[in-house]
Amino acid sequence: MKGVVLAGGSGTRLHPLTRITNKHLLPIYDRPMISYAIEALVQAGITDIMLVSGGTHAGEFLRLLGNGHEHGIERLLYAYQDKPGGIAEALGLAERFVAGDSVLVMLADNIVERGFGHMVRAFEQQGGGARILLSEEEDPSHLRHLGVPAFDGEGRIERIVEKPDDPPSRYAVTGIYCYDPTVFEVIGTLEPSGRGELEITDVNNHYVRQGTMQYDVLEGFWGDAGESIDAYYAVNDFVRTHGANKG
Ligand code: TTP
Repeated sequence: MKGVVLAGGSGTRLHPLTRITNKHLLPIYDRPMISYAIEALVQAGITDIMLVSGGTHAGEFLRLLGNGHEHGIERLLYAYQDKPGGIAEALGLAERFVAGDSVLVMLADNIVERGFGHMVRAFEQQGGGARILLSEEEDPSHLRHLGVPAFDGEGRIERIVEKPDDPPSRYAVTGIYCYDPTVFEVIGTLEPSGRGELEITDVNNHYVRQGTMQYDVLEGFWGDAGESIDAYYAVNDFVRTHGANKG
């Protein structure tokens, strides 16, 4: 299984910090944010990785990570996204790298307390389709900013709703996804959304409609450090106190 770490985007919710650097180079406790996603993939057994970045500071990722060997990566490739055209567009840049394999995608502003190797192994047994990682979220006002799955009576996801006024469940869709190689065909069929982006939720809903979407629920803390300046500091506080990527 290949790994793709997405570190492009505009990071407008962390302006002005992200006017002068890429969001994923900002510190989380004692390391640049991107290090946590890299560590999480390596811990999950994924060591063939492509990092997609964009904007004016993309070269700094190379300076930080180099060939990746110091971080336990066997092969690290880089791609550059010209404009922040959406998470699905950024993933599309990895098509030739993934080359018919399956792929785990992680948004580089996501930080997890516990690893997700179990999800990778479950996806390998799944026989294709997609698999996403959910996180239980108590606060419905927070869910209104996120992708939220609606379940049928048998616990299967029947659709994913982006930023719902009335969240259909207590689970958030995190930025950690597994796909079979058909994901690149799916991305090719997408139309830009109202905000002009190719949306990963449209990709995920394709697999939901096809009946091949499965999920796991993450144990422990999940944070999206790019959600707001308060979220950024909450993630910093959590990692400083409790650590991240624990087995
Ligand atoms: P978002 O947080 O949805 O978008 P953003 O990073 O541009 O931030 P903002 O909404 O505050 O302007 O993106 C989540 C992750 O996806 C982000 O950490 C990087 C990645 N991403 C890309 O790689 N390319 C893109 O075009 C977008 C939109 C996001």
